Amino acid sequence: MKEERKLPRYAYNWISAAGAVVAGTALFGVVFLFAITWYLGAENPYLGIVIYLVLPAFMVGGLFLIPTGMYVYWRVWQRTGELPYMKWPHLDLNIQRHRNATFVFVIGAMAFFMVGSVGTYQAYHFTESVTFCGQSCHTVMKPEFTTYQHSPHARVTCAQCHVGPGAGWYAKSKMQGLYQVYAVTANVFPRPIPTPITSLRPARETCEQCHWPQKFYGAMQRRFDHYRYDKENTRWTLDMLLKVGSGNPATAQESGIHWHINPAVTIEYVERDAKRQDIPWVRVTDKRTGRTTVYQDSAKPLAPAQLAAAKPRRMDCMDCHNRPSHNLYPPDYVIDLEMFAGRVDPSIPEIKRATVTAMAKDYPTEKAALEGIARDITEFYKKNYADLYAQKKDAIGKSIQAAQAAFAKNIFPEMKAKWSSYPNDIGHFIFPGCWRCHGGKHKSSEGKIITQNCDACHIILSQGPGPQKEYVSSEKGLPFQHPINISGMEKAIGCFNCHKGVKP
Ligand code: HEC
Ligand code: HEC
Ligand code: HEC
Ligand code: HEC
Ligand code: HEC
Ligand code: HEC
Repeated sequence: MKEERKLPRYAYNWISAAGAVVAGTALFGVVFLFAITWYLGAENPYLGIVIYLVLPAFMVGGLFLIPTGMYVYWRVWQRTGELPYMKWPHLDLNIQRHRNATFVFVIGAMAFFMVGSVGTYQAYHFTESVTFCGQSCHTVMKPEFTTYQHSPHARVTCAQCHVGPGAGWYAKSKMQGLYQVYAVTANVFPRPIPTPITSLRPARETCEQCHWPQKFYGAMQRRFDHYRYDKENTRWTLDMLLKVGSGNPATAQESGIHWHINPAVTIEYVERDAKRQDIPWVRVTDKRTGRTTVYQDSAKPLAPAQLAAAKPRRMDCMDCHNRPSHNLYPPDYVIDLEMFAGRVDPSIPEIKRATVTAMAKDYPTEKAALEGIARDITEFYKKNYADLYAQKKDAIGKSIQAAQAAFAKNIFPEMKAKWSSYPNDIGHFIFPGCWRCHGGKHKSSEGKIITQNCDACHIILSQGPGPQKEYVSSEKGLPFQHPINISGMEKAIGCFNCHKGVKP
């Protein structure tokens, strides 16, 4: 009996046996599921978690049990006298059983390290993948994942912005991830997810991997197509040239929007609120001369005690592009786009007002919202335009579908996420944005004011109803004309005081 054993006696114990069964089953599971995903060709977040995280954990645990069992029984059987007492394990390659055990161990260890390194690499990639970040906790990440897919960054992974290169931030993000798993499981996460993320890696180390400050130059043209809330849905178009230059020393260009991130200057600021919407104090340092200029909100300056306690934040990409990938657009904007594309039919009277009003209501769930939108718009036309409704039933139905689709892409009642919960800091039309510093109130001790000149950041090339055929050619552009007469209010107060993403 004794001689028939292929391995040392203490290898035959129930702990090691259980370990071998667990490890073997887990290995089989990994191979089997991997083959399935490979065959199906689609990444599935839950299957991924099982393949790359859960099963490997069982495998490692099982493998660990094998030597543990051997050691425990080696000691136990020494005490009971079944094995001769020895202080240290004894290995003699002249004994067949020892040779076998060594062989199994060496081959096993080699195979384990090979599979392990491939597996760790795969697991690393999986935990950095868009599938894992965006889809594992469906409801929670729905607003971010949906908007991401429709953003200019749809081909950039979540991790490229949220984690960036290097092992340090990878480890840090996975540690935070553990808390997030708890928060989701215990259902204690906040709705909407708060922003700014104070622990976000500095933009200099993420965005600048792909867009570097020296790169910006010239100007870029943008077109804004609006439709009014009148009966005719009157169109109003603006063509603008945005001066996005950076003042790159190499191009001898000294001003422009990306001047703020010119490596030759540092801009720091202190905010009064958590969302960084109220900025009473700004300091500019010219690194070449060392000169600093401090601008303070002259209407409501920061108290000296608050300033002393504050830790100024250095301005970077995120202070303007805070929604590069998760832009939740307001109803006014998305319906303009839908009308421009013809999916919401501009020939239906008051369709802009009807769709925007229905979308902007508060709904408890997405399902309720989609039903509510259809009901409200249908009732509006049945009540106010009964004849037209009979004629244009199809067109109205299609417009309703477009409004529902636009809602589902931009408003997430379950997460309480919508345009107003996440201010966008670019521009000054529906959020203060640039006006947080360029509002005309920030003054230096010498009396210099941070500019609010309408042509400092852009010039208007054309404006008016319908598509424009002629562009102005003067360097100063056209003076802004408000589509309707509001007695000069557009010059007196910021647009965002009236335009809030719905009917002004
Ligand atoms: C182009 C870079 C970029 C990409 C790609 C990106 N994000 Fe973000 N994300 C940001 C920025 C910037 C913020 C806002 C940070 C702030 O204001 O502090 C943000 C915020 C968030 C927030 C906080 C809540 C909110 O909406 O502000 C979550 C959650 C989030 N992102 C998840 C994701 C997920 C999941 C993906 C991939 C599907 C992803 N992000 C891809 C840049 C990115
Ligand atoms: C992995 C590379 C990568 C990273 C990291 C990255 N971007 Fe981008 N970004 C891109 C690509 C690709 C485009 C699309 C270019 C295009 O469409 O011409 C883009 C486009 C943009 C645009 C233009 C959007 C538009 O309307 O056309 C802005 C603004 C922008 N990125 C800002 C950021 C900011 C802010 C960050 C950091 C939070 C960031 N990017 C991080 C690759 C990246
Ligand atoms: C002072 C605000 C501000 C800061 C800071 C800023 N940007 Fe911009 N950026 C703008 C504006 C405004 C535009 C014009 C496009 C628009 O209005 O959407 C723009 C356009 C862009 C574009 C598209 C145009 C182009 O020339 O390719 C990219 C990409 C971009 N920014 C990336 C960045 C990155 C990366 C950083 C940080 C290194 C940064 N920006 C910092 C305001 C800013
Ligand atoms: C945190 C405060 C802050 C914010 C936010 C901000 N700016 Fe500025 N901006 C400044 C300061 C400070 C100056 C420089 C004033 C000076 O010393 O001349 C400046 C100057 C400029 C200049 C003129 C550069 C030159 O020298 O000609 C432009 C153009 C500009 N900003 C555009 C923008 C745009 C567009 C936005 C919004 C997307 C914006 N800024 C948001 C602080 C800010
Ligand atoms: C500090 C820079 C800055 C100043 C000063 C500024 N703007 Fe703008 N403005 C912007 C930026 C940036 C955008 C583009 C926002 C975007 O890309 O959506 C914009 C957009 C606009 C738009 C288009 C809005 C839309 O969605 O149709 C109009 C109109 C406009 N500005 C008018 C003005 C007028 C009038 C003034 C003077 C009172 C002015 N701007 C001063 C930065 C500025
Ligand atoms: C005092 C409030 C007020 C201010 C300030 C204001 N607007 Fe308006 N705006 C209105 C009203 C009211 C309408 C008409 C809405 C309708 O019936 O279509 C309107 C209409 C518009 C429209 C036509 C599309 C639409 O939504 O109806 C544009 C474009 C517009 N405004 C741009 C601006 C810009 C850019 C600024 C800032 C430079 C600005 N407005 C400032 C009240 C204001």
